[in-house]
Amino acid sequence: MKNLPLLFCGIFFALAFSFVGLILTSHIQLGSLTQTTEALVPSDDDPTKMVVVEGDPLYPSKSVGLAQQGKLEYISLGCMYCHSQQIRRADFGADIDRGWGPRQSVARDYIMQDRVLLGTMRTGPDLTHLGGRYAGDAGRDWNHLHLYNPQIVSKGSTMPPFAFLYETHKIKNNVSKDALVFPPGSKYGPKEGYEVIPTRRAVALVEYLLSLKINYSLPEAIIPE
Ligand code: HEC
Repeated sequence: MKNLPLLFCGIFFALAFSFVGLILTSHIQLGSLTQTTEALVPSDDDPTKMVVVEGDPLYPSKSVGLAQQGKLEYISLGCMYCHSQQIRRADFGADIDRGWGPRQSVARDYIMQDRVLLGTMRTGPDLTHLGGRYAGDAGRDWNHLHLYNPQIVSKGSTMPPFAFLYETHKIKNNVSKDALVFPPGSKYGPKEGYEVIPTRRAVALVEYLLSLKINYSLPEAIIPE
């Protein structure tokens, strides 16, 4: 085989080009991103340099505890095959007009995530800022009913029910405080004398959903007034 050196050169350049294009350039652009405060101020020593404001909270924060467990459920249940977690900028689609988030997502939003679930399909709405749209106890109740069967709160939804994340028990003495509260007359509610209780998986998943929030500005992506 007389062209062996040429063959090796070809292989080397093919690998080198893809390494530079896919790994090195992304690393140069994104690898040095760190947590930051909402705004930067000119440094005292060198006013041309912008630095973080000391004492201000750092963003993005890391998701912990139950929300982190819920993220594993989100992955294992394949939610990302229908839901994205990336808000496009205002002049690039209607994401912000639809109220999916207060500002576009930027690379720094993802740096504290061990696995980034951008998603590619949008069969359902983007969930980047779900916790900002459904907050508190009302948001928690809505999300449990919706997961149990989307039809209860979103008639005609094409999202599949995840009722296997819930258990139906006979009511012992009193209705348990975790039981789902169905709208009066709902045909999806349990039989008389029974109640529907979220399993640990459902609790974690909903805490994860509620933790998804873009409620902070970054120097490169400020929430407009
Ligand atoms: C087959 C596609 C599909 C899958 C899989 C899916 N969804 Fe959905 N989802 C939808 C559609 C369509 C909607 C919009 C209608 C509705 O509200 O039910 C939706 C709506 C939602 C909403 C309400 C969003 C809003 O802004 O009102 C949440 C929260 C949600 N899905 C969470 C999940 C979670 C968590 C999973 C995984 C356990 C999941 N979805 C899996 C299709 C899907």
